[in-house]
Amino acid sequence: MFKTATRYIKHLLTARHTWGFGIHSPYMYKFAQYVVYEKNSYYIFERIEHFRKLLVHSDKKIAVTDFGTGVSSARNVSDIAIRAIKPARYAQLLYRIVNYAKATTILELGTSLGITTAYLASVARQSRCVTMEGCPEIANIAGENLRQLGLDNVTIVKGNIDENLHAVLETFESIDFIFIDANHRYDAVMNYFNQCLNKINANTIMVVDDIHWSDGMQQAWKEIQQHAAVTSTMDLFHSGIVFFNPDLNLKHYKLIF
Ligand SMILES: C[S@@+](CC[C@H](N)C(=O)[O-])C[C@H]1O[C@@H](n2cnc3c(N)ncnc32)[C@H](O)[C@@H]1O
Repeated sequence: MFKTATRYIKHLLTARHTWGFGIHSPYMYKFAQYVVYEKNSYYIFERIEHFRKLLVHSDKKIAVTDFGTGVSSARNVSDIAIRAIKPARYAQLLYRIVNYAKATTILELGTSLGITTAYLASVARQSRCVTMEGCPEIANIAGENLRQLGLDNVTIVKGNIDENLHAVLETFESIDFIFIDANHRYDAVMNYFNQCLNKINANTIMVVDDIHWSDGMQQAWKEIQQHAAVTSTMDLFHSGIVFFNPDLNLKHYKLIF
């Protein structure tokens, strides 16, 4: 916790591209202005947030499976809704990215209760959104939320991502938007990243969550930034945005979000 706070202070002190400052690439400047810092609210936001509220106030308990140990323990749905899922601000940023990228193929690793999934899938109802979740009871709640929101363009793949990712990727020709937010360990993230590379196109945008959460995650982020397929990145501290477009000049931006 102390380490993360120190890292955040360092980020605040070294972020030089906030509001697009110092960004010379027209594409990245527009991205900062119209995606990262845009403030418009879309009508669907309120609807999705209504479902978040229901989860936050839920008195239901479910059996949650830990992927490290395979052990199941009882957990309050409200606790998961408060701690595990992306806050509205970040989920809405992902909505804007999917919208800006005109993504029609979307992959989320780590569904949790499906709130962020709902944002990703509601940009375009004709898009195909696949989300992967290992805990069956969590996935069931996500499925119910998405059903009630009428988002029939989402497929939830239940089971261990480490075992299922290859087969899921095979069902895509290419993927326009990828959100990596499951197992937050170095090995897992690098494995997900490397596998997903087989399905990127020039306009693919990938978001990796919690890039400064641990030493391992920071190492993974550093290696992703240095990967030959990556042409630009934006570090927002809580997450990193990765671009693969060969027309972009290789540059890494740090923004306060
Ligand atoms: C941080 S939460 C995802 C939050 C979600 N993307 C959101 O923004 O609301 C991570 C989820 O990934 C799932 N998970 C972690 N490791 C996994 C694995 N190896 N296979 C499948 N699911 C996994 C956990 O059960 C958990 O629900």
